[in-house]
Amino acid sequence: MIKIAPSILAANFAKLGEEVLEVEKAGAELIHIDVMDGHFVPNITMGPIVVEALRPLTNLPLDVHLMIENADQYIEAFAKAGADYITVHVEACPHLHRTIQLIRSFGVKPGIVLNPHTPIETIQHVLEDIDMVLFMTVNPGFGGQKFIHSVVPKVKQLSQIIKERNLSIEIEIDGGINEETIVPCVEAGATILVAGSAIYNAPDKAKALQRIKAAGLS
Ligand code: DX5
Ligand code: ZN
Repeated sequence: MIKIAPSILAANFAKLGEEVLEVEKAGAELIHIDVMDGHFVPNITMGPIVVEALRPLTNLPLDVHLMIENADQYIEAFAKAGADYITVHVEACPHLHRTIQLIRSFGVKPGIVLNPHTPIETIQHVLEDIDMVLFMTVNPGFGGQKFIHSVVPKVKQLSQIIKERNLSIEIEIDGGINEETIVPCVEAGATILVAGSAIYNAPDKAKALQRIKAAGLS
């Protein structure tokens, strides 16, 4: 089974609540929330108040992707706002193990994000401690970019390690996912697929979501 996580970065922020409910109705399994600080990535988006506003609106897990420096400072706020998953970038966390423990201490599922060039060796010693690995298939910072195919072998590599070590870790892919690019990702072992522009910029969001999912399952 695969899960689709629409990224609200591509939604119409003037009617964010409706846009979340629309994808929930269409069969989305998680809501992906992109948090950017203008330092780790060259863009600024949303903070804990957006998570807090969406929490009572939807039953879906809120998947909070932190593209920020000093993540430790903000984890409590995102946890209290209602995050179900908090993922942090390995490139931005010098004390990764501590950050993972901190996320877990609030009852939230921790995940690690790898930029397209970051090898999976950077996280091999924390695999027992996390619930998710998120592979970036674009350079983080913006929606609507082109899928980077060279990430796929990394996904395969991790999927193999998860099997060998009998771990229970979701593999999420984020960036440039559409009806075509979802296929090699699922083949490589991805279990959660983020899609922003391919869903929210489509004339019919529900149809777009269902077509992406069907392509992933085919
Ligand atoms: C990029 C974000 C992604 C982005 C995906 O930094 O992490 O979640 O919203 O958007 P699309 O699907 O348009 O590439
Ligand atoms: Zn994201």
